[in-house]
Amino acid sequence: MSEIPTYKPRQFDLSGLNGISDQTLEMHFKLYEGYVKETNKLTEKISAFLADGRVDQEEMPAYSELTRRMGFEYNGMVLHEYYFENMKKGSTTTDPEKSSNFFSAAADSFGTYDIWKADFVGIGKMRGVGWAICYQNPQNGRLSNHWITLHEVGNVSGFAPVLVMDVWEHAFLLDYKPAERPKYIEAFFSNIDWDACESRLIKSERSRPAGERG
Ligand SMILES: [Fe+2]
Repeated sequence: MSEIPTYKPRQFDLSGLNGISDQTLEMHFKLYEGYVKETNKLTEKISAFLADGRVDQEEMPAYSELTRRMGFEYNGMVLHEYYFENMKKGSTTTDPEKSSNFFSAAADSFGTYDIWKADFVGIGKMRGVGWAICYQNPQNGRLSNHWITLHEVGNVSGFAPVLVMDVWEHAFLLDYKPAERPKYIEAFFSNIDWDACESRLIKSERSRPAGERG
């Protein structure tokens, strides 16, 4: 049998963020490691079903359940990596540079950057367990913001995540009350690594002169 992929948890050096404590981060890294572990476990179990080259009828219920859980665990792993990666310590700004490609993409897609932000923050405040994600459509370079329930419901296939914000309560409960999610969102914005977001934008779009945009 060919080799089963094994994921290793990535390390993020984020201690000393604004308004998000090291205690929260440590707990959050542990949770993230749990998703990596579960993804590996599921990959292995599903591979075991496939070892004989088919999925037998009596294997179907267990195989189905594991495969459904894979969407939850796998997205849980990947989204946390995007989230940790789009924050940095020592940030002194809350918004991208006006001259940045992200700023123009937000303005092109929403009318103004402020409207983009109102939408993203609004989604972040939605009741429920999940994520606020700003995606870029690779077909036309447009940004759009989406609510993701849990980790796997609402992701748009083929769209590239540009800014990812965890709004599960575990992301802020040690620092804020459940009803204080807006304060956490404010803290999140004061830690965004806009260069990381910038580097996620599609390169062909970035290098194209503004006048040539479709
Ligand atoms: Fe999380």
